[in-house]
Amino acid sequence: MHTKPSDIDNMYWDGRHYDLDNKDFVEDIPFYIRQIARHGLPVLELACGTGRITIPLAEKGIDITGLDITEPMLAQARVKAATKQLDITWIKADCRKFTVHRTFKVILFPFNSIGHLHDRESVEQCFARVREHLADDGRFIIDMYNPDLRILTRDPTKYYPLGEYPDPDGHGQIKVFENNTYDGKKQINQITWYYRNGRQENERTVRWGSRIYYPQELDTLLHYNGFTIEEKYGFYDERPFTAMAPKQLIVCRKSPSL
Ligand SMILES: C[S@@+](CC[C@H](N)C(=O)[O-])C[C@H]1O[C@@H](n2cnc3c(N)ncnc32)[C@H](O)[C@@H]1O
Repeated sequence: MHTKPSDIDNMYWDGRHYDLDNKDFVEDIPFYIRQIARHGLPVLELACGTGRITIPLAEKGIDITGLDITEPMLAQARVKAATKQLDITWIKADCRKFTVHRTFKVILFPFNSIGHLHDRESVEQCFARVREHLADDGRFIIDMYNPDLRILTRDPTKYYPLGEYPDPDGHGQIKVFENNTYDGKKQINQITWYYRNGRQENERTVRWGSRIYYPQELDTLLHYNGFTIEEKYGFYDERPFTAMAPKQLIVCRKSPSL
């Protein structure tokens, strides 16, 4: 299972909104540049979205391919890459099912995107595709948040501010709020995002599920799907993972045999 396709389409309905909403988030990019300098080219980014990471890496001369399932996100990526005259291959595909006739030295799975994979079958399908496309001396790098029980158990009747940005169609400032309920059986955090521009009738509501990957579970899934973890960082500046670290930044390679 996967975040429902209708929820994905609703959530990533317009790449311009995604980019404006996330324009201040750049702190992961130097992390990837350092990792790629260590581990080599070419690079494949799974769930590349609008190219928020892909494009700055390509601007550094990195040979990178971006793969994503959502057309409006890829459309925005293509427009931005064309404006900058960057030669990036964009592939519309499901990260559980893709075939690219090439192997990669680095495969990235950034910015909590693995949370869209809701069950073991989906993760295993994705990891099998990664193994197939990763060079024997290559690295698979995952960025997933470290679950915070205080967020999972928040009061679901309250609205928590997420950010704000100017509407790309000129309808004023959009403010984004969220709330959530946690399904502890399925380990899925059911999140609702509310986009408000001050005119109630234009409110957009996006519901989606983010699979919660506890640290030992993620490490174990990697282990039993043929990956050896080399590093697990908790921060983009490569400080080690700890119980209270915000991130699980895992650098792994293929285990010699399954
Ligand atoms: C949080 S965004 C990350 C985008 C980009 N990597 C970034 O860091 O800004 C998650 C992306 O995952 C994509 N996605 C979700 N499920 C997918 C799947 N099964 N296969 C490929 N892409 C998927 C969505 O379309 C969306 O663009």
